Amino acid sequence: MLKPFGDARSIYHVVEPALRAPSVYNTQPWSFRIIADDRIELRASDGDGDDGSGCGRWDLLLHAPAPGPWPREYAISCGAALMNLRLAVRMLGHDPVISLLPDPAGDPGLLASVQIAAGRVHKPGSLERELYDAIWQRHTDRWPFSDTPVRPGILAEMEQAAAREHGWLRPLHGTFARRWLKVAADADAAIAAARDGWESGRQDALGRAGTVAATGDDAAGADRPGYDALLSQFRAELAQRTGDSDSGSGIPLATLGPRPATAKPPVRDFTLGGTVGGGTERGEVGPGERFERHPQLMMLFTDRDDPADWLRAGQALQRALLTAASLGVSTSFLTQPLELADLAFRDDPQHGRVRHPPGLAGHLGLPLHPHTVDASQRNSSSPVDRRGYVRRRLLGATPWLEVPQMVIRVGYPRDPAGKPDIRTPRREPDITDARSDPPVRVARPPAGPCPPAGPRPPGGSPRTGQAGAGDRLETAWRPPGGRHHSS
Ligand SMILES: Cc1cc2nc3c(=O)[nH]c(=O)nc-3n(C[C@H](O)[C@H](O)[C@H](O)COP(=O)(O)O)c2cc1C
Repeated sequence: MLKPFGDARSIYHVVEPALRAPSVYNTQPWSFRIIADDRIELRASDGDGDDGSGCGRWDLLLHAPAPGPWPREYAISCGAALMNLRLAVRMLGHDPVISLLPDPAGDPGLLASVQIAAGRVHKPGSLERELYDAIWQRHTDRWPFSDTPVRPGILAEMEQAAAREHGWLRPLHGTFARRWLKVAADADAAIAAARDGWESGRQDALGRAGTVAATGDDAAGADRPGYDALLSQFRAELAQRTGDSDSGSGIPLATLGPRPATAKPPVRDFTLGGTVGGGTERGEVGPGERFERHPQLMMLFTDRDDPADWLRAGQALQRALLTAASLGVSTSFLTQPLELADLAFRDDPQHGRVRHPPGLAGHLGLPLHPHTVDASQRNSSSPVDRRGYVRRRLLGATPWLEVPQMVIRVGYPRDPAGKPDIRTPRREPDITDARSDPPVRVARPPAGPCPPAGPRPPGGSPRTGQAGAGDRLETAWRPPGGRHHSS
């Protein structure tokens, strides 16, 4: 029998790369369970949130009919981790057989089971090795990009990478890009201004009248706090997750990059209008920095909008991000409008209307033109269809019918030499070994020699000209700079 998860050393060999995946607000909402010597499970984190992760137990929420922003983005994050884990298994020469949500009713926290295919051992290909190497290079780059557009061939490679995982990645050109920058800025303003809605008892200040239709998926509608209150809760959570954190989760201020000198910036305002985290660490002093003139944005879609689609979106996202990193292209994200659309849907499962107090700059304009496209989805009896409709309407009328999941910004770093190389820390992973009775937590093994290596792939990558497999396994075991967990 194959034993790729035989001991702590080999377990960490595949888990460590998974930890390097991007996760929403660096929540790292995953955990791992070793079921057999040749089977590992990726699970939703099942902590109580007291460990600083901030995400707590979310499996049940994942299957709630009208989720807020978190479960969808948690699942996307876990999908990205799954992509890295798959690549790590391939580096050992094994083939991972993936089963997404194998037991949704009985065990909703089980996101994916990874079984090692018996009797199939073969060297990783050069593309797999490049993507694996890129796991350590990729990070969210919130610094200004160069004005030189990313080569169309690279964008096409990213699109193909996503498509291999059933994600549809498309550049947002012209009016779509401008519109996205506008709704992103408006969303930032709306979140920043939502400060007092909850605390001051203004819950549901705008009233719920006319917004809640008695639909099957909204049985708990009467207990919903209302959009204003949801937004205020959302803001409070976001503020909590922004700032330097000793626990190894959350977004350190040092990774936020300089403050952009434009009203429609291509990076998110995690300081919530300058109210979180002081400002000097982020360069808040001075006039702000010029970012690229024409930010290049890409939107990732999936066919549908159920939890398995979110996991697919995560894998597609990560394959595309690794492709970009392997080709010297930086990436960041601009997802706040999608998060507010999720919140709006939660408040109003039928239409996802977003309402704002008079005078508030933020206005997402949902729904825009109720009589235009997508009537069948708008009026569908399926909450999944309607949720996807709400997110798609953010772009106005589009030629695409699939469901938006993520928006990324791509570009060449403007000044790679002058830019500080600051990576977001990770916390220690939650790994359980269920082969023991009772199950035990797997502790990080002391630093030592490499884990047992798989087949040794030939050296030299055609695209990067980097070294061969031995070096890559070394890199896997001890990432460059030792930045793989909290410093
Ligand atoms: C689903 C999802 C949504 C995200 N949304 C944003 C965003 O709107 N803005 C942003 O700057 N980063 C966003 N991120 C990036 C995370 O903040 C980042 O992955 C995390 O802090 C870890 O840092 P790293 O990607 O540099 O490893 C998102 C990541 C994921 C997976």
